[in-house]
Amino acid sequence: MLLVDLAGKQGDLAQVFGIWSQYQQAIEEDEAWPNISTVFQDEWPAIADRIGKQPVEELIYSTGELVDLLPAHPGLDGVEAELARVDDPQERYSRFAKFLDDYVDPLRYDIVLIDLPGHSDNITYNGLWAAGNVIAPVEMGTFEEGQAQQLRTDIGAMRETLSADMELTMVVPSMVDMRTRLAREYLNTFQDEFSETIAPRHIPKSQDIRTAADRGHTVFRKDSPSDTAERARSAFIANAEALIERLKPSVIQA
Ligand SMILES: Nc1ncnc2c1ncn2[C@@H]1O[C@H](COP(=O)(O)OP(=O)(O)OP(=O)(O)O)[C@@H](O)[C@H]1O
Ligand SMILES: [Mg+2]
Repeated sequence: MLLVDLAGKQGDLAQVFGIWSQYQQAIEEDEAWPNISTVFQDEWPAIADRIGKQPVEELIYSTGELVDLLPAHPGLDGVEAELARVDDPQERYSRFAKFLDDYVDPLRYDIVLIDLPGHSDNITYNGLWAAGNVIAPVEMGTFEEGQAQQLRTDIGAMRETLSADMELTMVVPSMVDMRTRLAREYLNTFQDEFSETIAPRHIPKSQDIRTAADRGHTVFRKDSPSDTAERARSAFIANAEALIERLKPSVIQA
């Protein structure tokens, strides 16, 4: 599986997998080129040609946790402006999809998971277009409910105006603290509001998840997880299995 971080230059995924300082050093020494921002540029095909066989392998890091990572890069800041200059909307929104088709598909990952910014900009639209299936982790709150509804509206609008083949595939209630009445109420609201797409299990709030991320690995690497962490892990796995079921028609098509 390949993770692609398009969610801002702060490089959250590189931090979670403990490779941020290594990557930052590469950035400082001008060695992190090409990178995720390069693949959005007009010149990318020419750059890739010059690199030769499998140009994307240079961009990908292993994490030690069964997934590879294409990390975020500060250059993503400039990509937004670059995309805004592309007149044709189809061309503007489909650059990343084209990159995946031409350069990542040959690497034969079974799943490509793209982390997107929490707001709607041209990079987000590129990610949505390329993904087709969208997963939205949401905290239990009014603000987050509004965000999830906005995402659903955006996806509907893109389907209509650009005939883009994409759908909201799974809404995952996250960081849920079932000890509070408010969280339980919100969970019910989300279950009603997103009845078609809600994940089978919610992810409990767990300090172990946060601590693991601070230490540069995920909660799956934790040796003696707390009960809550254990429940979070089994919820993650159950949701992943449900997700694979939901993806099946398109996977079989492909
Ligand atoms: N189930 C959980 N229990 C406790 N802490 C969590 C849980 N899930 C995530 N966190 C912590 O909450 C913080 C934010 O999580 P995360 O980075 O996944 O959110 P995000 O939606 O991607 O945020 P952003 O929109 O800023 O990118 C991180 O410190 C993470 O470790
Ligand atoms: Mg994030």
